[in-house]
Amino acid sequence: MRRRSVLANVAALSLVAAMSSGGPAAGPAAAEHPRGHTITYDRYSLMIDGERVWLWSAEFHYFRLPDPELWRDQLEKFRAAGFNAVSLYFSWEYHSPAPGVYDFSGVRDVDRLLRIAEEVGLYVIARPGPYVNAELDSGGYPGWLNTQVGRARTAADDYQAAWEEWYDHVNAIIARHQITDGGGSVVLFQIENEYDRNDAVYMEELKAAARGDGITVPLFHNDKGRNLRWASGPGAPDLYGTDTYPSGFDCNRSSFPSVTDYRFLRPGVGERPFIWGEFQGGAFDPWGGPGYERCRTMTGPTFERMFYDNNIENQFTVHNIYMTYGGTNWGWQADPNVVYTSYDYGAAFNEQRELTQKVSVLKQQAYLVASVADLAKTDDLGPQAGTDPAIRVWVKENPDTGARFYFVRHADSASQSSDTTVFTVEVADGVYQPTVAIDGRDFKILAAGYDLERQRLVYSTSEIMAHVDLGDRDVALLHGRAGEPGETVLRYPGEPRVEVLSGAVTSTWDAALGDLRLDYVHGGLARVRISDCGGAPLDLLLADDETASTFWRLDTRSGPVLVRGPYLVRSAEQRGATLRLRGDADRASPLEVFARPHVRRVFWNDRPVRDGAVPGPEPVGFPALSGWRYTRDVPEADPAFDDSDWVAADRVATNNPTKPATLPVLYTDDYGFHYGDVWYRGRFAGAATGISLTAGTGRAGIWSIWVNGVHLGTVQTGTASGNQNSTGAFSFPDGLALPDADNVVSVLVRNMGHNENGGSNDNHKAPRGLLAASLAGSDAALRWRIQGTRGGENLIDVLRGPQNNGGLHGERAGYSLPGFSDRGWAEVSLPHQETAPGVAWYRTTFRLDLPRDQDVPVGLRFTDDPARHYRALIFVNGWNVGQYVNDLGPQRVFTLPQGILRHQGENTIALAVWSADATTGGLGQLSLEALGNYTTDRR
Ligand code: GAL
Repeated sequence: MRRRSVLANVAALSLVAAMSSGGPAAGPAAAEHPRGHTITYDRYSLMIDGERVWLWSAEFHYFRLPDPELWRDQLEKFRAAGFNAVSLYFSWEYHSPAPGVYDFSGVRDVDRLLRIAEEVGLYVIARPGPYVNAELDSGGYPGWLNTQVGRARTAADDYQAAWEEWYDHVNAIIARHQITDGGGSVVLFQIENEYDRNDAVYMEELKAAARGDGITVPLFHNDKGRNLRWASGPGAPDLYGTDTYPSGFDCNRSSFPSVTDYRFLRPGVGERPFIWGEFQGGAFDPWGGPGYERCRTMTGPTFERMFYDNNIENQFTVHNIYMTYGGTNWGWQADPNVVYTSYDYGAAFNEQRELTQKVSVLKQQAYLVASVADLAKTDDLGPQAGTDPAIRVWVKENPDTGARFYFVRHADSASQSSDTTVFTVEVADGVYQPTVAIDGRDFKILAAGYDLERQRLVYSTSEIMAHVDLGDRDVALLHGRAGEPGETVLRYPGEPRVEVLSGAVTSTWDAALGDLRLDYVHGGLARVRISDCGGAPLDLLLADDETASTFWRLDTRSGPVLVRGPYLVRSAEQRGATLRLRGDADRASPLEVFARPHVRRVFWNDRPVRDGAVPGPEPVGFPALSGWRYTRDVPEADPAFDDSDWVAADRVATNNPTKPATLPVLYTDDYGFHYGDVWYRGRFAGAATGISLTAGTGRAGIWSIWVNGVHLGTVQTGTASGNQNSTGAFSFPDGLALPDADNVVSVLVRNMGHNENGGSNDNHKAPRGLLAASLAGSDAALRWRIQGTRGGENLIDVLRGPQNNGGLHGERAGYSLPGFSDRGWAEVSLPHQETAPGVAWYRTTFRLDLPRDQDVPVGLRFTDDPARHYRALIFVNGWNVGQYVNDLGPQRVFTLPQGILRHQGENTIALAVWSADATTGGLGQLSLEALGNYTTDRR
């Protein structure tokens, strides 16, 4: 292998890597890169050019949002919500239809993605696998990898040659965007993912290859489940990362477990920062599952508060939330066993890119770690007893500044009770006894002895969300649970002037100590102006949580601003007396700006702001979907159909670790058809009385069989976990099979996707298509031909890529494409009743004329009785945007991504409907709807 020779140099290479990235030990080892920045680290955090940074990162999958414009939209939303990093898996199969063939253009243009991330102000954690998992078909491996001899995720030669090819292509792009020497914002690079075999040679090869490809940022691994695998020793990258999903993936669950103390990792991690390669931010949901709103509830604001605050306490200064935006498994991207078309994930941002209620807590936490730099370097002082043992107070201190942080929650983090404790705050400013309430599952991070801009915060029982120096004054935003009391003490050299501008706040001045104490109850927004205090005045904003979340903190070249009011504020630009804000509003909303004093004019989306308010969106409407055209489309079932140009399926051997029960081998991947539907036509001459078939489809798959044009049955693979294959045995009606003639068996099999390979057991190779075929009552041979997607080297639809289409006749004939003429088809209206099993196509067109300056995510809704047995592949303007399964669900609304859907103009929708029988098939009602409506300014 090309890099085998490098193996000998691995030790030397690792040394270079350690030097350029600061090495496992803290210190000034960083070599200055001539064009770029340095990344170093110690036990507390990463440092970029020597500055500590808390990476608050959002997992994002570009391949699940097929429109670069929307990448910018979503990345801007992350940034606005306080994320300073985005973690990207790269899906190998999304880019590679065949060995040696790679595409990084259009919706696959990751160079553009990395540029956008940098422009938006996000660091990037690059995770190109080669294996990623991610609920993807084959865990992200290209279809062509499924026929390799060597075991994947080992040092097997054929596997290594393949991933080296991928690495070379993708790393060339990633390397250009590294912060170290590429002029971009990539700060970390992940090797493999949850690798739980012990093949250190493989890991060393990956590391050496990454370095060989010019990757100079620190390398890390995402160890499944905090086992300290690959933390040190042969195969270990520079840094140790791990993951956890404490709530699991059954979204029927209504509660979640207790939080965990992760300090046990310290001896293994040593003088390196704690890294969450992934921390649960939602969950996937399987065919027939409870639906994503349940996942969002399971991992909702209380979950976020408990677990992410606990992570802050545990010093996870690289903190990546999986997923923060999930997106859509469009095309044949999904692993069928765990997920359907939507990959919404119950994440903080839903599939249609809206902010859910989960953003509020995340934003508070993100703003906290960004504002309170002292948090990034803290040592444990340990627990401290208060008056109520039910409440645990954990103390940490920044050794440089002496600032202390009190992490307060119930000792039993599952406790639902409501308690109050008095505990001791001991800082340079003195010793205090604040009172803190913890109501149910809640967590608070309180600061004391802290230099808050130009103020001295002695302590507060409100949490800090943000503070800014606006030149003539400081502004601090503190928050707490609505209805709970708060106390904040600030230190001044002399008695300041205190004006309570709104809300009920009492102030007490202790001249002996120089303490100004404010008492209040969190509710709405209280404003206190503290001036004549010997330094910069302070505008103190005391908010309840909900109100706090209406604030946005933005950076401009002339310093930060705070903005309050609208649904989303994307960016701020300050030039002279003018502040230009860009953002979205779901309704007419108040707008309040906290900016430098010379700012006199405020623009919102390029229009001057009048009366302190921004306008809401115009209402929108949608045409009814009508004018449907219909055609049945199973010519392959007709015995007279000419299949002479199909591939002969006559192989008698396979590389697949699962050997076929009957010959020839009929595995679809072995014949180069990796995605979607595949047709088989078999011939036999003999007095057979029946036929038995086993098909590998993946969970919830389907197949149908015809003999001499007669439909014998349709079989659905079960939806219970672990189901992938299904068997059917059919007797031939009298006279169907003629002993001396060529009898024709036509079988259509849906490949729902390949399994993941999480266990490194080659599970992605579990075969798809027909696995076994045998006649009853005859030992005549079956001679087969097979037809599938025009993929691999023959991929025609390069734009939509290898996973867009399968091998339905209509897909091959262009029925799914907008340019196709369906004028000869029958006119029908929906709902429509089908009278024969098998595939039929429905097409119509519609015009949209949505306002250009509004973001209107559009959904396609199916309405029907789930007792009807059919499913539909949905093509919008030729793009396969998903699969609707009427008798399974749970998904009944499909997000149609803008970019694929023309918001101003003509659209074509084509559905390939597969009816299981002659009586319950057809197609129900379809309608378009607005899933949201916002004024916006996207760039
Ligand atoms: C992790 C894995 C991810 C994803 C996640 C569940 O174990 O690293 O790729 O599969 O689980 O969504």
